[in-house]
Amino acid sequence: MSIPKKKNTLFINLAFAGSLIALLLFLLKAPEITTPKLPHDEDHNRFFSMKKKTAGKLCVECHTTEETDEIHKDATPNTNRCLFCHRRD
Ligand code: HEC
Ligand code: HEC
Repeated sequence: MSIPKKKNTLFINLAFAGSLIALLLFLLKAPEITTPKLPHDEDHNRFFSMKKKTAGKLCVECHTTEETDEIHKDATPNTNRCLFCHRRD
């Protein structure tokens, strides 16, 4: 290595600090989650304690996915992905 050890460490530290700042800016710029969460009500309470896969199959008891808009056209009962987007918290 031609670079003296001390300088090398300084460079690494600066690069590390720089990447942290970049990451922070990225996170601050990320859009907020706007997808409606699973509601806490009589209809939905039972799903909070279920396994995601089990719960996901039951959504279509009440929610049809026939009116397929842009977002839901890939969200079929078979994919069970409802809770991937509609978070439970
Ligand atoms: C027993 C019937 C029933 C089942 C089963 C059901 N829902 Fe619902 N859901 C409703 C009704 C009725 C509404 C509208 C009233 C409301 O907003 O609470 C609703 C509303 C919603 C909303 C909109 C909430 C909002 O803030 O706009 C989401 C998201 C949702 N359900 C997701 C799910 C998911 C995911 C599942 C499966 C895990 C599921 N539902 C299963 C009856 C049901
Ligand atoms: C790829 C992510 C994604 C998946 C998967 C998904 N949704 Fe959604 N869903 C959304 C988004 C985003 C909205 C908000 C749409 C809007 O406000 O126009 C929404 C809105 C809803 C609403 C509320 C509609 C309203 O008028 O407020 C219901 C109910 C719902 N989804 C049910 C389901 C069910 C049931 C499934 C599984 C079959 C499902 N979603 C799968 C992203 C998803």
